[in-house]
Amino acid sequence: MSLKKKIATKAEPIDKALREYLKIREPKKLYDATAHIPLAGGKRLRPVMALITCEMVGGDSEKAIPFATALETIHNFTLVHDDVMDDDDLRHGVDACHTIYGLSTAILAGDTLFAYAFEMITDCDVEDGIKADLVKNVAYVVRKIAEGQQMDINFEEEETVDAKEYLEMIRLKTSILFGAAAYGGAKIGGTSEKEARKLEEMATNVGLGFQIWDDYLDATASEEILGKPSGSDIQQGKRTLLVIEALNRAKENDRKRLIDILDSKSTDKEIEEAVNIMDRSGALKECHKQANMYLEGARKTLSDYPQSEARELFEELLEYMVTRGH
Ligand code: IPE
Ligand code: IPE
Ligand code: MG
Ligand code: MG
Ligand code: MG
Repeated sequence: MSLKKKIATKAEPIDKALREYLKIREPKKLYDATAHIPLAGGKRLRPVMALITCEMVGGDSEKAIPFATALETIHNFTLVHDDVMDDDDLRHGVDACHTIYGLSTAILAGDTLFAYAFEMITDCDVEDGIKADLVKNVAYVVRKIAEGQQMDINFEEEETVDAKEYLEMIRLKTSILFGAAAYGGAKIGGTSEKEARKLEEMATNVGLGFQIWDDYLDATASEEILGKPSGSDIQQGKRTLLVIEALNRAKENDRKRLIDILDSKSTDKEIEEAVNIMDRSGALKECHKQANMYLEGARKTLSDYPQSEARELFEELLEYMVTRGH
């Protein structure tokens, strides 16, 4: 079975829970818009990570389903709003929420998904202390995602940012939600705070590799594979690691040209030109290498755990996060 299929199989209870929670209510337009993106698709990486972490520490992942579903709901809330911010009109292979329902309803659909997540967490069959901990942690992570998203927007106005700033931005906007998945899954699985924090750190690190790889795919994979627009980061002038590495390495005329393309509304041909600059400067290769470095670090942490079906699936999930696509 392919990695993609294995993860999709593991995500089946999440899909089911999402369909149940996101049933259509009144006003219909709001609930249609709320269900649109989460039910259209997605790899379900964060909830699967929560379930597997729970199993790896010896817990019953059935208990983690509402929490895991909440993570997917939070993730989709950020996607709905992210597509407004990034001016993207395709998501999960369908028209973006705001493209179909308009900006106002898309804002409300995001808010609704955000609120659902906390209803789901409180539905978890775990003791109140753990529930309160999960609520606090998820609320904190959403606030940090907002900080990361604001940094991502701010960086569009900079000529370049350094790799350290970029890594902090992606840690906030993307990685720590993976961290919260592992932490919550581990806590629901009954493990100690110390152990849960260690798994959180591992997942946060692999989340960095995941976002570097997402940026790589944005520049190199097709819309059909991504289910979202390709070349959008270049179009928006995002300062991804690809850009940072290319600006550090390219010859002066390539450097100038790349900045020009990033800072203007580019044609498809110009986007291709930018990708070629990233390629010949060695930036593509470097980002590929860095994404893999985070994967290797996470693999080391996992090797402390006894061999089990859950650990094996965890290894496969981590690998999929930084090698998928293409
Ligand atoms: C997309 O995440 C947003 C990022 C943080 C890069 P996913 O690739 O996990 O989104 P799905 O699978 O389409 O929901
Ligand atoms: C997404 O980063 C981060 C969040 C949704 C919080 P991107 O803007 O790279 O995600 P995609 O590529 O649109 O999925
Ligand atoms: Mg974005
Ligand atoms: Mg985006
Ligand atoms: Mg992206």
